[in-house]
Amino acid sequence: MEKEGRRRLRVVLVPAPFQGHINPMLQLGSILHSNGFSITVVHAQYNSPKPSSHPDFSFLSLPDTSTDRKMSRDDELVPFVSQLNAKCKARFRECLADQVMMSRQQGKTDDAIACIIYDEVMHFSEETAKDLNLPSIILRTGSASHFLTRSALVQLIKTEGHLPFLEFRSHDLVPELYPLRFKDLPHSIFKNLDKLLQIVSEASDNKTYSAIIHNTTACLENSSLAKIQQQCQVPIFSIGPMHKIASASSSSLWEEDNSCLAWLDKQSCNSVIYVSLGSLAFMDAKELVEMAWGLVNSQQPFLWVVRPGSVHGAEWIEILAKCFKENIDERGYIVKWVPQKKVLAHDAVGGFLSNCGWNSTLESICEGVPMICRPCFGDQGVNARYVSHIWKVGLELESELERGKIEKAVRRLLVDEEGKEMRKRAKNLKDIVELCTREGGSSNNSLKELIEMIMSF
Ligand code: UDX
Repeated sequence: MEKEGRRRLRVVLVPAPFQGHINPMLQLGSILHSNGFSITVVHAQYNSPKPSSHPDFSFLSLPDTSTDRKMSRDDELVPFVSQLNAKCKARFRECLADQVMMSRQQGKTDDAIACIIYDEVMHFSEETAKDLNLPSIILRTGSASHFLTRSALVQLIKTEGHLPFLEFRSHDLVPELYPLRFKDLPHSIFKNLDKLLQIVSEASDNKTYSAIIHNTTACLENSSLAKIQQQCQVPIFSIGPMHKIASASSSSLWEEDNSCLAWLDKQSCNSVIYVSLGSLAFMDAKELVEMAWGLVNSQQPFLWVVRPGSVHGAEWIEILAKCFKENIDERGYIVKWVPQKKVLAHDAVGGFLSNCGWNSTLESICEGVPMICRPCFGDQGVNARYVSHIWKVGLELESELERGKIEKAVRRLLVDEEGKEMRKRAKNLKDIVELCTREGGSSNNSLKELIEMIMSF
């Protein structure tokens, strides 16, 4: 709905080309659009979003920004992002300069670009904003607690040069970062230390942005948000969970298989374990087989997403078809990609075995679905610890993926008394989070302040 009686300003959004980053950025776009702003999405060619799903937005694809790096392992993410930034930098400037110039020459105040909001990963945007004299705002798509952990670690690495304790103290708690253990820290930082420090220092050398937006809410991460605000010179807006504030359009990069909803309709309430390891994680054939046996042996119905190409050495689940077809057909439904928010909202789903990506974590919390946490990399270890130890709405599935452990975890969550208690807490947390997004709630207030800031540019 357009807001009456005020000039319409345009906001330029620069998402990072990964599903877990595109979703919150386009959700933010919908939120701003319904508050009277025009939206232009400037994106790289890799994983480009689908304009047809967002007919109200304009889309500008940056030419020649496909990268020669392939993402077949999750530790390739940091070098990939580094190359992507280098490629996009010049193109972004060319792309925006003409538009800005034209609108300034015409003296147009309506539809003028008010600001650029970029994913913190796409830090090349900051320089263009500065060159073109446009205000900029950063969107952080991960949790506030993960950001704090990351900045504490980078600081430690900068001052000490290395972290010698990591290997042999992996189960110890990290001082000042309760409930995190050394093993929960974002390990990709260590694997790609040089590249990461380069990205972090390039981003922080350019401190001209006006604000930072987090896709979170004070009722989940109040103390982390307060600490970030203390460290930061600019306002922090916590506007989340964005998918609950935005209109419901999908920004899926893969085709959603809706047939799973009809399958869920046939299952009884809270009986199904939904399994997905997100959009970036990979597994090997052995892990796939262990997961299949663990799910079958749990005797509970399961809906399992196996993303095509996510199993090393296999196209999809052909390895399973040979040995388990009958067992799986009886109890399980395996698909390539689902409409996840609808799945989590379905009454039949009683638990989510998840990689604990931040979007999945928020989506599960918002539907009151307790989790089995199986973090794979990056921020997921931190999110998993918060789910299990701070909000207490999930249990951890640790170390090697093994059928007996999976079976036990599923039964603990779906059958045992412990799981029922967890589900009660999850429903309670859902209600608390919902209040934050309503009129007068913290996310709603934060959104109003953000809109005021953009209008003042
Ligand atoms: C990674 C990081 O772990 C995450 O924390 C970061 O903020 C983004 O990148 P990813 O593997 O993409 O995460 O997981 P997640 O953040 O949960 O995002 C996945 C998104 O894909 C979710 O919004 C989920 O609803 C969607 N999804 C997943 C589907 O729509 N269908 C599916 O079948 C699986």
